[in-house]
Amino acid sequence: MPLDAAGRQSFELRWERYSPQIRAALTHLYPGREREVEERLCALLLAAFKARSPELRRLDEERLLRPDWLQLPEMIGYVCYADRFAGNLAGIADRVDYLTDLGVRYLHVMPFLRPREGANDGGYAVQDYRSVRPDLGTMDDLEELATVLRENRISLEMDLVLNHVAKEHEWAQRARDGEQKYRDYFLMFPDRTVPDEYEKTLPEIFPDFAPGNFTWDDEAAAWVWTTFNDYQWDLNWANPDVLCEFVDLICWLANKGVEVFRLDAIAFTWKRLGTTSQNQPEVHDLTQAMRACLRIAAPAVAFKAEAIVAPEDLMAYLGRGEHYGLVSDMAYHNELMVQLWNCVATGEADMAQAALAAMPSKPPSATWATYVRCHDDIGWAISDADAAAVGVSGFDHRAFLSDFYSGEFPGSFARGLVFQANPATGDRRISGSCASLAGLEIALERNDGEGIDAAIARINLMHAVMFGYGGVPLLYMGDEIGLLNDMDYARDPAHAEDNRWAHRPFMDWDLVDKLPDEPLHPARRINEGIRHLIDVRVRTPQLHASIPSDVVESPDSRLLILERLHPLGTLVEVYNFSNQTVRLHHGVLTYRLGYSARELIGNNSYDLRPATIDIAPYQPAWFVRR
Ligand code: GLC
Ligand code: GLC
Repeated sequence: MPLDAAGRQSFELRWERYSPQIRAALTHLYPGREREVEERLCALLLAAFKARSPELRRLDEERLLRPDWLQLPEMIGYVCYADRFAGNLAGIADRVDYLTDLGVRYLHVMPFLRPREGANDGGYAVQDYRSVRPDLGTMDDLEELATVLRENRISLEMDLVLNHVAKEHEWAQRARDGEQKYRDYFLMFPDRTVPDEYEKTLPEIFPDFAPGNFTWDDEAAAWVWTTFNDYQWDLNWANPDVLCEFVDLICWLANKGVEVFRLDAIAFTWKRLGTTSQNQPEVHDLTQAMRACLRIAAPAVAFKAEAIVAPEDLMAYLGRGEHYGLVSDMAYHNELMVQLWNCVATGEADMAQAALAAMPSKPPSATWATYVRCHDDIGWAISDADAAAVGVSGFDHRAFLSDFYSGEFPGSFARGLVFQANPATGDRRISGSCASLAGLEIALERNDGEGIDAAIARINLMHAVMFGYGGVPLLYMGDEIGLLNDMDYARDPAHAEDNRWAHRPFMDWDLVDKLPDEPLHPARRINEGIRHLIDVRVRTPQLHASIPSDVVESPDSRLLILERLHPLGTLVEVYNFSNQTVRLHHGVLTYRLGYSARELIGNNSYDLRPATIDIAPYQPAWFVRR
């Protein structure tokens, strides 16, 4: 389809605006070849721009007028597996009322592209990026789902697995068949010399079921780089053909109506001898190039970085230095998630306070994805420095958290599973659903009313932080009704080895249906709490994600206190992680809010003239000036 004058003008203006960002990135990535690669990308982008539907071009215009769309307090995220939530992609469209009723405006549908058969790492081993897993539907169903969601003002997010492909992917097949062009898409070595050099500094991601980072392939007659499982072949992003393939692909998927790409395992995409081959500077050039491409062809689309890395490395994914504001629009706040579980286990918030206060600030245009649980395990990303800040040893504290959440620690309320114990480092990551880890499973088994109350209160508290921190809160499917660990996962041979499936349950629609008649059911109480938090959150302008949550030095180690300095008035958030009532000296509040405050979650007014106010066990409180 030829472009009309207006279309040509948009393309030209965007190209003028963003091609310098592409060029700068290509110059770092592919010195000497930047011109050639830029020309290839320009042709791809023009074709994608022409193919974009009028509805999506309208969305592009809308987003250009509202660049902070992801930052609005009304952005409430939800994460689900198509089959486990609703059978298939079309089934999700049928459940859209459930989502809108909950207040959802953003939906991450877990991997749905065609994976390899058999074990496929939950869909993260993609065999064909241009077709849908057959039992979930077709590309037409995807387009239809995106349309229905868009009509309901829900933005669709999908996974973009770019560190690796399934070894059955066409590129890998052709590499095995000896085509040099495709061998260059991967990292293949004839013997162990080079792999052994790399291994000296590479960590292991799945030490249990996929030790080492290279796998011998007989047909390819080579050691192939496989960071994750042996069937996931790492791509060679130092080859510009790989970048061109992915730019073409993401434009094509964007034109189906996808609005956010989750950049899976992005930290691993660039390899360098003598390093961990994570967080290399080129990773940010790659993201910058891809993002600038999308700004030209489909500016409605955003990137979310999945970089589960140390806080000092994380901020680069939202843009630091020359990449400031030019890379991912969003990133998971892994640190916050880990600290929440730490607070709940210890009843103390002092380590969280130190760790969050030490984090560098993010660019105002970038947005956190906040979460309590996701489909992955929890790794105890607690640095020795965070631990030292409160006088404990990092190693011992990480071990304590693993003991606590696997239920081994005496008196622990949690029921979780150890994932990937690594004897070399002492690391033991944890699987388990939010409710089971927060104590609901054990309390229900023991018919322990107080235990049930406490578990519900902990779940509510952690979600309050998730909704109140700023960013897109990602509610993980089933957590809104407190689903417990699903130990049936082990019956499926493709899942049996990977206990992350314990916290990837099927949605319990029977339970959802009966909630209206069961006012005292724990699921109902959890659900009401979460709905209420959402309701308050969307009406609180202070929660716009451009505003940072600053840590306030807390007079009591059991309280985490945050402040958000918004032009419409400061919001002070107080979270009591202990099971005791804490007397808070009013100074913290009066200094910021004056002598009369309103607490938004409980909808109470407070006279702050008395010297203290009481914060109830596990209470979240959001104060503004009255
Ligand atoms: C990401 C996914 C995880 C997967 C890994 C490899 O970390 O979240 O589930 O195992 O990437 O693709
Ligand atoms: C890697 C990924 C992390 C994921 C994990 C899967 O560590 O970086 O995102 O949680 O693999 O277990």
